[in-house]
Amino acid sequence: MKKKSRLLLYLGVLASSASLSTTISASDISAGKELAVQCAACHGVDGVSTDPKFPNLAAQKEAYLKLQLEAFRSEKRKDPLMNAIASGLEDKEIEDLSAYFASLKGAEPAAISAKQASLDGSLIAFPKDYEAKFTRYHRKDYDDRKQVRYFSGNAIALEGVKNGGKFSNGSYLLVEIFAAKEDADGKLIKGADGKLVAGDPKGFTAMEKQAGWGDGVADVYKNGDWRYSVFKVDGSLKPGVNEAQCMACHKPLTQTDYSFTYNWIKDFLPTQEVGYSHKIVE
Ligand code: HEC
Ligand code: HEC
Repeated sequence: MKKKSRLLLYLGVLASSASLSTTISASDISAGKELAVQCAACHGVDGVSTDPKFPNLAAQKEAYLKLQLEAFRSEKRKDPLMNAIASGLEDKEIEDLSAYFASLKGAEPAAISAKQASLDGSLIAFPKDYEAKFTRYHRKDYDDRKQVRYFSGNAIALEGVKNGGKFSNGSYLLVEIFAAKEDADGKLIKGADGKLVAGDPKGFTAMEKQAGWGDGVADVYKNGDWRYSVFKVDGSLKPGVNEAQCMACHKPLTQTDYSFTYNWIKDFLPTQEVGYSHKIVE
C-alpha cells in the first residue's frame, strides 16, 4: 500500500510538472530561435547587436522584451524600423521571441556581432550612364534637411508603371541628392519659383530589382526581389550601409511594389514620353 501511494504521489508530481511545462511552452524558446533569424541583421544571431545603434537583446528580461515588442506593434513606442517589423508579429511570436532572447547569455559591453554578409547593401552596381539613360520623373525639396532630391528611373522601371503593372526585373530607381544652396547667413536660397536651388551633389540612393535577389533575405524585411544601395558622389559604393534598414521602411508598400514614388511616376507618365532622356522636372 505504501508503495502504491508513493507511486501515486510521484505520478501526481509528474502530472503537475507536465502542466507546468505546458504553461512554460506557451512561450517556446526553440520557435523563438527560428523567428529570430528575422532580427539577426540588426540584433545579431545571438542577440548581440551588429551596430552600436542597435540594442543587445541577449539576456534582457523576458517581460520587458514582450512589453517593448507590443509597444512597437501598437506604435506606442515609435521607431520606423521596429514599428514596421513588429507590425507583422503575432502575440505568440512576440512571446517566443522574448523567451528566446531572454534565454541567451549576455555579452561584454563592447561586443559587436558580424553583419549578415548577404545584406550589406553591396549588390547593386552604380548606373554610370544614368545621365544619358535614366528619366527624371520628380524633384522634391527638403527644407529641414537642406536638400533637393531628384528621382529618376530606367526605362524598364517606367514602362512597368506605364503598363499599370509591377516593376519588371531590371527596374532601377535612383535618387540624386543635392545640398540646397544657402546664403551667407545659412538661410536657404529660394529661386523665382519659390523652390530651393540645388547646389553641391551629395550622393545617391538606389533600389534595383533582379530575379532571385530576394532569395535568402529574411521574410520580415524582404522586399520581393528589390535590393538597396547607397553611392557616394563619385559613384562608388558607400560602405557600412545596413540594407535591412532600407527594406524595413519600404516593406509596408506592397501595393506599389515597395516603391514610395510609384504614384509620382504614374502622374509624370501621361505628360512625358518614356525614353532614354534626362528630363528635369522643375
Ligand atoms: C533593421 C534593423 C532591425 C531589425 C531587423 C530588428 N530590429 Fe529591433 N531594434 C532596432 C532598432 C534601431 C531598435 C531601437 C529602437 C529605438 O530606438 O526605440 C530596436 C529595438 C528593439 C527592441 C527594444 C530593446 C530595448 O532595449 O528597449 C526589441 C525588444 C527589439 N528591437 C526586438 C526585435 C526583434 C524581436 C526583431 C526581429 C523580429 C527585431 N527587433 C528586428 C532595429 C532592428
Ligand atoms: C524611414 C523610412 C525610409 C528608410 C529607412 C529608407 N527609405 Fe527610401 N524612401 C523613403 C521615402 C518616404 C521615400 C519617398 C521619397 C521621399 O518622400 O523622400 C523613399 C524613396 C526611395 C527611393 C526612390 C524610389 C522609390 O520609389 O521608393 C529609393 C531609391 C530609396 N528610397 C532608397 C533607399 C535606400 C537605399 C535606403 C537605405 C539606405 C532607404 N531608401 C531607406 C523612406 C525610407
